[in-house]
Amino acid sequence: MRQPLIAGNWKMNGSKVVTAELLNGIKVGIGDVRTSEVAVCPPFPYLYLAEEMLSGTAIRYGAQDCSREEDGAFTGQVSATMLRDFGCTYAIIGHSERRLFNAETDAVIARKCQMVAAHGLTPILCVGETLEEREQGRTEEVVARHLGAVLDLPDGLNLLAKGVVAYEPVWAIGTGVTATPEQAQEVHAFLRQRVAEKDTEVAAKLRILYGGSMKPGNALELMAQADIDGGLIGGAALKAADFLAICKAG
Ligand code: G3H
Repeated sequence: MRQPLIAGNWKMNGSKVVTAELLNGIKVGIGDVRTSEVAVCPPFPYLYLAEEMLSGTAIRYGAQDCSREEDGAFTGQVSATMLRDFGCTYAIIGHSERRLFNAETDAVIARKCQMVAAHGLTPILCVGETLEEREQGRTEEVVARHLGAVLDLPDGLNLLAKGVVAYEPVWAIGTGVTATPEQAQEVHAFLRQRVAEKDTEVAAKLRILYGGSMKPGNALELMAQADIDGGLIGGAALKAADFLAICKAG
């Protein structure tokens, strides 16, 4: 069975004080979470707080991105080695906001997945279509391309055996409009099938998270779907009580 993973993507929010409060709130309430694995992804500067406050707990943490380069003259970038240095388990790769605002291509995203995996981190590979693409009936084509950028690499199956995929329809992110459980399940099943065409065992073990306006009120029915193995949570991860309620639903 696949253990549900609930990962909070805090995006560019918070401060030292707010981050410490949020970490503390999750730490205090986590005892009630029985089945899900829980992870948080604060902004880079606050990873030290996650390391300080979460070490020795079952709560894992990760970064929202990672450089595709090993080290060197890459101003502003953060390497996989540095993330390991801070005890990160996960790195979110290819989030639609990075595809949009940082012009990240499928090739760059694939390289980043290779880099983080090579350093013992688990990539959370984000895939998802825009509203326009969905309305044009191109959802499967788009998510197949996003997934294929990694799956079709020579080491693609190995990367997915170590990784996590997050289906995040762009039209559902931060909009309050959530994909229906049926819409999400359809895409999750499609993604798993694509992997199964190459290796059924990797497909059966692969955790595919849903992200896009997941909240306490809709988490249960989304995660009740056969191929939805948890959530990548944005806005609702910024309040400990809401995040913990989603974790309990997992
Ligand atoms: O990475 C998280 C997603 O972008 C979802 O964000 O829960 O605010 O819609 P949201």
